[in-house]
Amino acid sequence: MNLRSVFLVLLVVTGVAVSVAYAEQARYIGAKTCGECHPQEYERFVEFSKKSGSFESIKVMKPKLTREEYQVCFECHTTGYKEPGGFVSESETPELRNAGCEVCHGPGSIHADTGGDPAEIRHDLSLEDCKSCHNSERVNAFDFKPLLFGGAH
Ligand code: HEC
Ligand code: HEC
Ligand code: HEC
Ligand code: HEC
Repeated sequence: MNLRSVFLVLLVVTGVAVSVAYAEQARYIGAKTCGECHPQEYERFVEFSKKSGSFESIKVMKPKLTREEYQVCFECHTTGYKEPGGFVSESETPELRNAGCEVCHGPGSIHADTGGDPAEIRHDLSLEDCKSCHNSERVNAFDFKPLLFGGAH
């Protein structure tokens, strides 16, 4: 069964209104918008997590890089690059230029639009969720569970 038929079956089973709402794919909204409802997490994130300044880390090195090399940096130092509703460029999507809450919690537009439906945000995280960016070359001391918070809280 391909994706399209799964979608059609979902439509039939759950009724059109519900499935359209949930079949819609969540987009990225940026850490600042999360902070409107989670001010404490946001303040700590900005103050303590290096992720909140991760775009600056690559921008200072931009003069030494080719355009192609610079774009590779986006994969880890921004939010949702190459994904639907994710970072495009500094001018088009300034709110997603750093690696924000959503690199760990996943895209949050539906969670936000529903006033915080917990089923619409990723919260059962494991170290697997970090590996796309934190690979063995870059991170050594990573088997310590409290680090899961990544200085974000
Ligand atoms: C989209 C890529 C990405 C993902 C996914 C990601 N990180 Fe990071 N993380 C970064 C980048 C980039 C930095 C470095 C930012 C800088 O210094 O410019 C960083 C920094 C850190 C640091 C350094 C200390 C600090 O205060 O920021 C820790 C710890 C960390 N991340 C933990 C985690 C954990 C735990 C996860 C998974 C639950 C995770 N990260 C997922 C990109 C990512
Ligand atoms: C595969 C993911 C990934 C890519 C691609 C990537 N980075 Fe990083 N970068 C990280 C992670 C993860 C850290 C944090 C390492 C840590 O603190 O343990 C980091 C840290 C850094 C830091 C150190 C910041 C500090 O506070 O010490 C700089 C500078 C940096 N990256 C620049 C770049 C540049 C420039 C590029 C593109 C040429 C790039 N990175 C591409 C994942 C990535
Ligand atoms: C480095 C990954 C990472 C980043 C970035 C991150 N979080 Fe979390 N967050 C976690 C982990 C891990 C938990 C614990 C949840 C679990 O694993 O069960 C958590 C839990 C939470 C919770 C549940 C309450 C609590 O404190 O346990 C909220 C709310 C939350 N995060 C919001 C945010 C917001 C808002 C941001 C950005 C300002 C953010 N998080 C950034 C990893 C992250
Ligand atoms: C409109 C307000 C609002 C916005 C915006 C919002 N949240 Fe929430 N969030 C909530 C509420 C309310 C809860 C508590 C739900 C509950 O426990 O019933 C919550 C719960 C959470 C949880 C815990 C889920 C659980 O089951 O433990 C996480 C993680 C979280 N939010 C992350 C985020 C992130 C990341 C963003 C930004 C992408 C964000 N939130 C944006 C209102 C919001």
